Amino acid sequence: MRVGIFDSGVGGLSVLKSVLQARLFAEIIYYGDTARVPYGTKDPQTIARFALEALDFFKPHRIEMLIVACNSVSAWALPQMRARSKIPIVGVIEPGILAITKDTPKDTPILVLGTKATIASGRYAKELHAHGYSHVQSLATGLFVPLIEEGILEGPLLHACMRHYFNDLSSTPSVVVLGCTHFPWIAPALKNYFKDRIDCTLVHCGDAIVHYLQESYRLSPLKHPSKARFFASADVEGLKAQAQAWLGLG
Ligand code: DGL
Repeated sequence: MRVGIFDSGVGGLSVLKSVLQARLFAEIIYYGDTARVPYGTKDPQTIARFALEALDFFKPHRIEMLIVACNSVSAWALPQMRARSKIPIVGVIEPGILAITKDTPKDTPILVLGTKATIASGRYAKELHAHGYSHVQSLATGLFVPLIEEGILEGPLLHACMRHYFNDLSSTPSVVVLGCTHFPWIAPALKNYFKDRIDCTLVHCGDAIVHYLQESYRLSPLKHPSKARFFASADVEGLKAQAQAWLGLG
């Protein structure tokens, strides 16, 4: 099967990584809207417009399924995208919620990190409350996105940014939801930041979506590795260089 993976930029490479490891698809077309990243600071109408334009990008590639590897788009534009398309369109939030609710006790303190757009949508918090979780904090940490786009995955700048966001947390979480597909790239730094205070579990959209695809679409591993091709609305060489650096591809 040929599948498309779409994100605003390089963040979706974290989802691509999990999907490649699982060998669920013969061919993968990755598209990053790098000319317009970040999406997380945009209003819902703009995010939906960009998402529909991404559907136009994929048309000539004849994909059979689209993975929206972007929480901001998953939060605001899935119904509009599905209404315009005949193929299955899978977002990252529902699989993330399933991964959390599978075996997390209801009294677990959960911290949801995401872009401004994702957190403003309240999608994670609402779904978690509906599943009976009452200790949910949500925090918009969008400054991580440009740092990650720049390849800054550790060091003093990232640490200052983490201090800026996490210094005033009202309680210490046991589960941190990486509600932005960029954030798995700083997972080691986040773990390290929280390590003295808690032994926290990080929930990763890429792993969650692989489980979801295996279960809901009955996809099982192929014999051969998937072939991935990369496209971007700007600086495709930059995207390929990141894919090369982070995944050994490009
Ligand atoms: N990686 C995306 C997400 O999961 C978007 C980040 C951004 O473009 O602001 O929300």
